[in-house]
Amino acid sequence: MDKKYKIAPSILSADFSRLGEEIKATEKAGVDLFHIDVMDGHFVPNITMGPIMVEAARKVTKLPLDTHLMIENPEKYIEAFIKAGSTGISVHIETCKNLPETLHMIHNFGAKPGIAINPDTPIEKLTPFLEKTQYILVMSVHPGFGGQKFIESTYEKIKKLAHLIKKSKQKIDIAIDGGVGLDNIKKLKDAGVNIFVAGSAIFKSRDYAETIQKMRGAL
Ligand code: DX5
Ligand code: ZN
Repeated sequence: MDKKYKIAPSILSADFSRLGEEIKATEKAGVDLFHIDVMDGHFVPNITMGPIMVEAARKVTKLPLDTHLMIENPEKYIEAFIKAGSTGISVHIETCKNLPETLHMIHNFGAKPGIAINPDTPIEKLTPFLEKTQYILVMSVHPGFGGQKFIESTYEKIKKLAHLIKKSKQKIDIAIDGGVGLDNIKKLKDAGVNIFVAGSAIFKSRDYAETIQKMRGAL
């Protein structure tokens, strides 16, 4: 059965020299899916990974691989990521030239379409696209790097989004990304989040199983 609340470690904070082991260890610790941060050095000031990393991750886990594209012209790379093993792809509302078409493309290639939204973008901008998406990835830091501080105004944004989704009568997951940890996970759940992306809170912790268990306990 599909769990109500899901924990998604962002592999950006993993030890890349032992990526396979890190993925297996977090899977064993009880996570629900993996979050893969793709950055192009244009849309965000950092460069990370491409489809070959998704392919590598696909070899060591059967869990969903949710891919967060922080890149310009994401439509050019959707097919390659899905062929490599991405099961969900979120694209940023700030950069898509034709968002409905891009979401449709993700769906047609067989993955879950999602919309990512930056801290400075008003949440109401999502309204026209709600029926085309299966999840919204709300950024609670400015995208580009792991380990940043959670932006407090995000709670209000999530509450507004939960209201917009309710009004739309669509079934849409709310995912949160950036600065998520034991100190705010409960408050985020209360605001309406059901998918929790966490990079440093998991991979910088001493005992992954203990951390995941504590996160679940807080929910
Ligand atoms: C930021 C990325 C996040 C990041 C989260 O641009 O999209 O997924 O890895 O890392 P933490 O949880 O450390 O803020
Ligand atoms: Zn991310």
